[in-house]
Amino acid sequence: MRVVEKMLLRRRAGRTDTLTYLLASACALIVFLVCSILYGTRSDNPSLPTLVKEVLPAGRCLCQYSTVFTCDTCLDCAASQSAFYENATNHNIGSEEERWVFQYSRDSHNYGLDEDQCHVAFPGLFEDIERAKNQRTVLGKVTERLLSSFNLSKGMVRAMIYNGELYVLQTYLVDNVNRQKALAVLASLHRAITSAPVQAPIENVEFVFSVEDLPAQPNKPIWTLARRAQDTSLWLIPDFGFWSWDMPDLGTFSEVADEARQRETVEPWDSKRERLVWRGKISFAPKLRRALLDAARGKSWSDVGQVAWSTPNYKDQFLGPVDQCGYMFIAHAEGRSYSGALKYRQLCRSVIVSHKLQWIQHHHYLMRATGPLQNYVEVERDFSDLNNVMQDLLAHPEKAKRIADNSVQTFRERYLTPAAEACYWRELVKKWKEVSFDPVLYDGVEIGDGRLKRTQKRGVRYETFMLYEYPKQMEYPKSAEMSPAIGP
Ligand SMILES: *[C@@H]1O[C@H](CO)[C@@H](O)[C@H](O)[C@H]1NC(C)=O
Ligand SMILES: *[C@@H]1O[C@H](CO)[C@@H](O)[C@H](O)[C@H]1NC(C)=O
Repeated sequence: MRVVEKMLLRRRAGRTDTLTYLLASACALIVFLVCSILYGTRSDNPSLPTLVKEVLPAGRCLCQYSTVFTCDTCLDCAASQSAFYENATNHNIGSEEERWVFQYSRDSHNYGLDEDQCHVAFPGLFEDIERAKNQRTVLGKVTERLLSSFNLSKGMVRAMIYNGELYVLQTYLVDNVNRQKALAVLASLHRAITSAPVQAPIENVEFVFSVEDLPAQPNKPIWTLARRAQDTSLWLIPDFGFWSWDMPDLGTFSEVADEARQRETVEPWDSKRERLVWRGKISFAPKLRRALLDAARGKSWSDVGQVAWSTPNYKDQFLGPVDQCGYMFIAHAEGRSYSGALKYRQLCRSVIVSHKLQWIQHHHYLMRATGPLQNYVEVERDFSDLNNVMQDLLAHPEKAKRIADNSVQTFRERYLTPAAEACYWRELVKKWKEVSFDPVLYDGVEIGDGRLKRTQKRGVRYETFMLYEYPKQMEYPKSAEMSPAIGP
């Protein structure tokens, strides 16, 4: 692999040359990769052959990076990424009047980029949508019957977009956290719909999404926050935190991003502490997170500790997401499933040190653990190589700085912007429509002897649903009938 990389670098002079070479290698590698990955992901063998292990976490294409999962659009991904790379290294080619390019300062908060702009700005962002769609093409379209064939489990909402408006059809929310997450997801989808360019109307779609960390019914076509490689029926959505999360020092995601930028002006790279920071709750993933604590214990480079809410001075140990930016290195560990903290960590100009991830979120395809575009550092799931990795980073500050800069360029200034979030939602709706049914706004209601007498509008508009009181939102529509109506 190393040799191939070096050759690639040398040959970068000729662009067509590089592309052809890349595509050819990609083709040959894909057969090898698919076989290795199939074996690697299915095998129960604790010690995989070295060769298989090597391609598992970090194949040639971005799609295989970091997480152990397969990717059906690898070739497209490789091609567009290499084009992106070319563009990134040749800022000066062409003028901006000739072709539109994404500019962070101008476009990051633009929720209304059109489809072409979305694709130019965010190559590789739509990988999982493409994967899920292809999977659905094989399995057959999502029908109304399929969507109605399972009951909602806790944290799920059935909803619909009709004539560009968002409707809530059914909810099963069990507590206030569930409710807040569901509202946040609905709100950010609603924002993406209402900001869509007028010339490209949003399709009518019906869907079920879940806000639980762990997918309760991973074999159903449900929109979820994260999935494992084997959960091929699931479709990924941006997590509720992109709208907002009501915790100290959080708030809307773009607020935290602005805060991180602000902090950087007073706390630039050179003034950061040369230590690895981590705060979190051990109990969310005891084995994994304890391994991190063990690996960091007593090391001169470590500021790794758990948040113990019960101790009197927990406020001193607590570090807000932006406070973590004060460190050059930030550790990341998965929680019950994925950890929502990753996206905040990626807002810092710091080096993310993460174990090999199992859970995939919509933006994970953009993570790279090697090469000139490396934007995080990957360690083993048991953190056995953490000390060596830290020693290496401390000995090569210029490399650490480059990884941190790449992370900012890739995530804070591109794939985690509000513009990217809105683009992702609209692409999701569009591709879901290609493999699912046409929803109806009116349902037949049987009255009396069973003959169809009248029709009834389904669900409630999001604008109205968000005004409902707490109990009414929980198990809609059942809970709405039970709560007393507010009279005029
Ligand atoms: C790279 O630039 C070319 C024009 O030079 C453009 O057509 C292409 O879309 C760009 N690719 C990416 C991924 O930005
Ligand atoms: C859904 O719930 C209803 C009522 O609790 C039950 O009768 C039905 O069997 C459930 N359906 C499935 C597919 O689990």
